[in-house]
Amino acid sequence: MKSSLTIKIVIFSLLAMFSTNAFAQLPQETPQQKAQRMKWWTDARFGMFIHWGLYALPARHEWVKKNERLTNEEYQKYFEMFNPDLFNPRQWAKMAKEAGMRYAVITSKHHEGFCLFDSKYTDYKAPNTPCGKDLIKEWVEAFRAEGLKVGFYYSLLDWHHPDYTIDRNHPRSASSDEEYARLNKGRDMNKYRKYIKNQVRELLTNYGKIDIIWLDYSFPGGKHGKSRKDWDSINLLKMVRKLQPQIIVNDRLDLLDVPGGWDFTTPEQYKVSKWPERNGKRIPWETCQTFSGSWGYYRDETTWKDTKQLLVLLIESVSKGGNLLLNVGPTARGTFDYRAKDRLHAMGEWMKVNSRSVYGCTQAPDQFPRPDNCLLTYNPKTNRLYVHLLDYPIKRFTLKGFGGKVKYAQFLHDASELKFGKPRYNVTYQEKKSPKDVILILPVVKPPVEIPVIELFLK
Ligand code: GLC
Repeated sequence: MKSSLTIKIVIFSLLAMFSTNAFAQLPQETPQQKAQRMKWWTDARFGMFIHWGLYALPARHEWVKKNERLTNEEYQKYFEMFNPDLFNPRQWAKMAKEAGMRYAVITSKHHEGFCLFDSKYTDYKAPNTPCGKDLIKEWVEAFRAEGLKVGFYYSLLDWHHPDYTIDRNHPRSASSDEEYARLNKGRDMNKYRKYIKNQVRELLTNYGKIDIIWLDYSFPGGKHGKSRKDWDSINLLKMVRKLQPQIIVNDRLDLLDVPGGWDFTTPEQYKVSKWPERNGKRIPWETCQTFSGSWGYYRDETTWKDTKQLLVLLIESVSKGGNLLLNVGPTARGTFDYRAKDRLHAMGEWMKVNSRSVYGCTQAPDQFPRPDNCLLTYNPKTNRLYVHLLDYPIKRFTLKGFGGKVKYAQFLHDASELKFGKPRYNVTYQEKKSPKDVILILPVVKPPVEIPVIELFLK
């Protein structure tokens, strides 16, 4: 009786293991090994996203095909006209580097299905347009030459491939189950799954060491979505890890519950309220953000963030232990929009003298409470704390709770000393200084940097 129960339990657990794919194991590593593999990325903190494709021609959102329900025939004119004659990836790489970015991720294929690279498995690619070349090859070489790490975005969605089934996000999305059935007759996701693997294999074999892969995205749940089954996510990721064991992978394969199924999480177009956690543990994260509303070049979109908002986005991400991947949508000539250039330049001016508060930095230890209107970052290696003054104070600046912990203070941009001070008093009123506080004396005139930073050498 007892032994038959044991057998049942064993069989049941084996079945459970099979069904949760424990046997289709992805490579496992210890938290330390993972942190080590990702170290360059967590130190880098700031990267460039690039969304470029045929949608640069209509110049009204990379989802234009879906938003306007354009047919393949209607969209074909952009393929025939694609000729980015001013494409100069060296200039792009220089602009990224000068902005202080340390890595870049480009769309090798977006949802529209068009490939910037020379794939053997499709004709729908840049070499077959008037452009006539493998843009990814030149891009990779140029960015590497500037010392930047390189990554590929690859869209799991494909609105051009004949075997990709029509789903709720497709330009031809239907209004009834019957219509879906009719539209999807003859489409074979098995073939499409092979296509994804073939293309990702090309991307991870033909261009040398690739540092990041950004697979985008899954939309499980509800009707006519797509999930890990549709992409064969586990086997796809196994192949990725095998081809490029050091690569860093985002979290959009619908494998959040699978050990080894993702490396970092990707809050998109919003600021997290605190360092994201999973199962009570802080996890690596990167927020991806646009300068304006759209990822692809959008000529008439006017909601551009200003330099200060963008710097705050970067600093605030680091202050919560995360990265910022900031997007540029190049034009169909192959240039960066003047507004993007302007913002990149301004961020670079700030980074030139302040990047020490970004690279290698993370959230400040809890023993340092955040002063009003400030963001704190901390470099654990040098034991320095950075106070970013978002709203420049008048002369006396109190760091509550910092008493006894600070050795020396200076402005970061010019290494000029900031003296410790005493509280002000006059005949009628005197503030008491608590031994728990540090008072710094700042110059009245705000230094000529968008967000001044105080560098504190801790005891
Ligand atoms: C979303 C959008 C896509 C964009 C991506 C960037 O998945 O579909 O257009 O590329 O976010 O994170």
